[in-house]
Amino acid sequence: MYSLDNTYSYDDLVQWYEKIIKNYSLDIKPKLVCELKIDGLAISLTYKNSVFTTGVTRGDGFVGEDITQNLKTIKTIPDKIVSDIQELEVRGEIFMPKTSFEKLNQKQLENGGKLFANPRNAASGSLRQLDANITAQRDLAMFSYYGRLDSKEYDIKSHSQMLDFLKKEGFNVNPNYKVCSNIEEAVEYCKYWDKERQNLDYATDGVVIKIDSFDLQSEIGYTSRAPKWATAFKFPPEEVSTIVKNIEVNVGRSGAVTPVAVLEPVYVSGSTVQRATLHNFDEVKRLGINIGDRVLIKKAAEIIPKVICVTEHSTGTPVPFVAPETCPSCGTKLVPVEGEVNLYCPNHLGCPEQVKARLEYWVSKDCMDIDGLGDNIVAQLVDKKLVETPADLYKLSTNDFMQLDLIAEKSAQNLYNVIQNSKHPTLARFINALGIRHVGKETSELLAQKFGTFENLKHSTFEQILEIDGIGDKIALSILDFFSNSFNNEVLNKLEMYGVVPQEMSQTDTTTLFSGMTFVITGTLSDTRDKFEKIIKQNGGKTSSSVSKKTSYVLAGENPGSKYTKAEALGVKIINETQFNAMLEK
Ligand code: IVH
Repeated sequence: MYSLDNTYSYDDLVQWYEKIIKNYSLDIKPKLVCELKIDGLAISLTYKNSVFTTGVTRGDGFVGEDITQNLKTIKTIPDKIVSDIQELEVRGEIFMPKTSFEKLNQKQLENGGKLFANPRNAASGSLRQLDANITAQRDLAMFSYYGRLDSKEYDIKSHSQMLDFLKKEGFNVNPNYKVCSNIEEAVEYCKYWDKERQNLDYATDGVVIKIDSFDLQSEIGYTSRAPKWATAFKFPPEEVSTIVKNIEVNVGRSGAVTPVAVLEPVYVSGSTVQRATLHNFDEVKRLGINIGDRVLIKKAAEIIPKVICVTEHSTGTPVPFVAPETCPSCGTKLVPVEGEVNLYCPNHLGCPEQVKARLEYWVSKDCMDIDGLGDNIVAQLVDKKLVETPADLYKLSTNDFMQLDLIAEKSAQNLYNVIQNSKHPTLARFINALGIRHVGKETSELLAQKFGTFENLKHSTFEQILEIDGIGDKIALSILDFFSNSFNNEVLNKLEMYGVVPQEMSQTDTTTLFSGMTFVITGTLSDTRDKFEKIIKQNGGKTSSSVSKKTSYVLAGENPGSKYTKAEALGVKIINETQFNAMLEK
């Protein structure tokens, strides 16, 4: 199953079309079919003698997973097609409607289950169930956009005829496709759906533009990964309108004080958003936001939502936001820090919000990974003065947890167990958990690789730290500063006393297979990106987030993005997961 080339620019679309006209000396402008690009999971269905026999995921394009039993529970996949056909393959996208996704998450919340980040993840999780009965309870649907049948009987000559055929045979074809006579009409289609997509009950991240005629498609052909007769226009990050209900002030773990807009909940780029950052107090002034105003928001880099602008001031008397002079958590006078726009609360040890934020960070996934100890529990532990520093977590008893609201004996026992079981994290995660300024996940991994044990890091010198490729003065000074602080040393001693000891980097766990090599990962692989990064690092390699001439390999999964195109342009070697595994086996 192929992937698609994509672009964010209308100019590129026009060029793609004009190049086809020129290269194939076409006298008549070729017809196009525009379809919404559904943000779901690609699958392929096989019908033998008119009966649905096998359904597989896209996988790496060559080998997918057989999920026939689960697909059989989806109503928009017919068990049997209308006509008598020996063999038919149909491809399309499985998705979960946005409203069903919201309902599923509500149900998960009530039953204490895992929440899904967006409808795509919910669809994927629902399809990958071992028990098809669970899939059957989830509201999944399929839009079909491709058919292949060997029989000449039907004489289907174009993509639009194929879509008509699929509809007649009982498949669900997205009704919003349009046959366009030229690229200008296709551009209009993209512009229309960029605005209108908010009102659809399924997620779409772009438009797929396909040459209609099958003859012309065959003439134009394919690259190794994508058809040259089709291209995808990706929508710019979605901008959605909502109301600012309040402006709160957030105190981060480093003491940085930032304004946050509390919003009327709204669905944007794949999830419901209730809060958006306003960055700093100058930004609130610049945007001219008052409480009650209508604003546009978007997800910056598709992750953290931000407020872009005010579109309509509230009709009532404006409630302006006044930046605080003192910390909203502990009342300490806020101070500016040279070279930074934020104000800071200097009460690092005593400010409850900072203490809570540091503990939330400590327990998070990339740090000590203490599953179950949510923000609410952390807040109660701090408010009840049971915990002040991460070390205090390890002396808590089951009884201590039972003093908290809504915690019964069984959950208290669970919390006690997860904390006790978290005492030996990897060295990198332990370093990350300490929250040393300017030291995040990547740097922690570099430090762990270099020093091997926590003792070595603790006693490292400025020069030794600087020997690490990718670490400069600012980070090195911050590390030395952290270890020379007496309070930090007190917490570290207590941690050790309670038996919190990170694993040492074992020499036997690592190889030099990838030493000197840099990998860039793009697209969806069979497991998390973290997992692949770990394998690369364990084998002596490095990972980077951007492709350059120095990149040794781009490891590309499903739906790779612009990194793939850049790698092609620079002539960087691109490998898929199967090839990567083969390298490891060597
Ligand atoms: S056509 C040979 N049409 O987009 C043509 N793909 O980025 C290949 N997708 O893996 C696909 N909606 O999962 C096509 N209307 C649509 C689509 C669509 C969503 C997905 C598909 C593919 C990915 C490529």
